[in-house]
Amino acid sequence: MPGQPLKQIQIEGFTSIRSATVDLGRVNILVGANGAGKSNFVQALAMLGRIVDGELGLFVGLNGGGSALLTHGSATSRIRLELDADPNSYEAVLVPGANDELIFDSEVVRHHESSRREPSDQLLGRGHRETLLSTPTAEPGGGTAGHVLDLLRGCKVYHFHDTTADAPVKRMVPTADNLRLSPDAGNLAAYLYRLGSSSDVADQAAYRRIVGAIALVAPFFRDFVLQPEGNDRIRLRWQQQGTDGVFSANQMSDGTLRFVCLATLLLQPDLPALVVLDEPELGLHPFAIVQLASLLRQASTRSQVLIATQSVTLMNQFEVSDLIVVERKDGASSFSRPDPDALEAWLTEYSLGELWEKNLLGGRPTHEESATDD
Ligand SMILES: Nc1ncnc2c1ncn2[C@@H]1O[C@H](COP(=O)(O)OP(=O)(O)OP(=O)(O)O)[C@@H](O)[C@H]1O
Ligand SMILES: [Mg+2]
Repeated sequence: MPGQPLKQIQIEGFTSIRSATVDLGRVNILVGANGAGKSNFVQALAMLGRIVDGELGLFVGLNGGGSALLTHGSATSRIRLELDADPNSYEAVLVPGANDELIFDSEVVRHHESSRREPSDQLLGRGHRETLLSTPTAEPGGGTAGHVLDLLRGCKVYHFHDTTADAPVKRMVPTADNLRLSPDAGNLAAYLYRLGSSSDVADQAAYRRIVGAIALVAPFFRDFVLQPEGNDRIRLRWQQQGTDGVFSANQMSDGTLRFVCLATLLLQPDLPALVVLDEPELGLHPFAIVQLASLLRQASTRSQVLIATQSVTLMNQFEVSDLIVVERKDGASSFSRPDPDALEAWLTEYSLGELWEKNLLGGRPTHEESATDD
């Protein structure tokens, strides 16, 4: 597995998440009612990703400003995010600044030495607008800050829901934009072209596995047709079985196109350390969902995987220890892992999805008392 395994994330004061500490495993499946806070959790991880890219201001602006991200009604107006790996951690405390922006109240990298009880903290700064993580340090290899930088860069949130006519995945992209699959799969054609035409056997094998996984879900799919055009740009094209005609990405069904993105992400040779997806089952047939679960499990042997889902079919493919149940308690999101021992007897007779539907795992919608309720 690349990099350091992520052990825990702590979130305070972020949207519906007043205070949460969530231990991370290899597979993490967030389940819960509508509005419970699953996407908010994914957004907190996305925010960490934008922080490390020096785009906190852009993220805050695109998400409605600091006031939309700070927990409404909270006594303290601050967001604290902490990501712990072994032996390094990162902590950002963000507070409201001028013009509804968020600025760093503090930014700390932490190293836990096995020989010492107390971790050593390095305060990177206070009052700044964008991360100071990438500022070169005197320590060889960048020191703890360098490791933390890699840690945060390894957490990637992907979203492949957009399949409209001008979706990023359908656009023409520069062929050179092929190093990493982008979070919206906007460079899918360039990325697949590199894998398919690479002289590296691992890249070639990954390309074949991707095509094979797609053909399993969409048996009419033969292969991609990836040819750079003038100015070294490329777009997604493909062929069906039994015909030589070439189709555009627009002629692929929405579910197939999403599965193409998911298969490419999860079968790529260089997976990020933590792959995050919100409702990856969107628009997929139950058979495709079962294949997706298999891809997620395979990916979890090389990397950590975190998804939020509403799909009982998808849930059924995992273990009870993989689940994180998200519930609203007093208007705030709470996160808990069901106790496998307590459910052992039930699990001999029922699948995880059936236990979910019987409300034995929690996470069902509950009535919240309003201020005017008696
Ligand atoms: N700034 C905020 N302060 C407090 N609560 C907030 C804030 N912003 C959003 N919320 C709450 O978060 C909820 C949305 O949560 P979220 O999108 O994470 O739900 P979800 O679990 O992903 O649900 P779904 O299954 O429908 O996608 C809103 O209904 C609202 O109650
Ligand atoms: Mg959601």
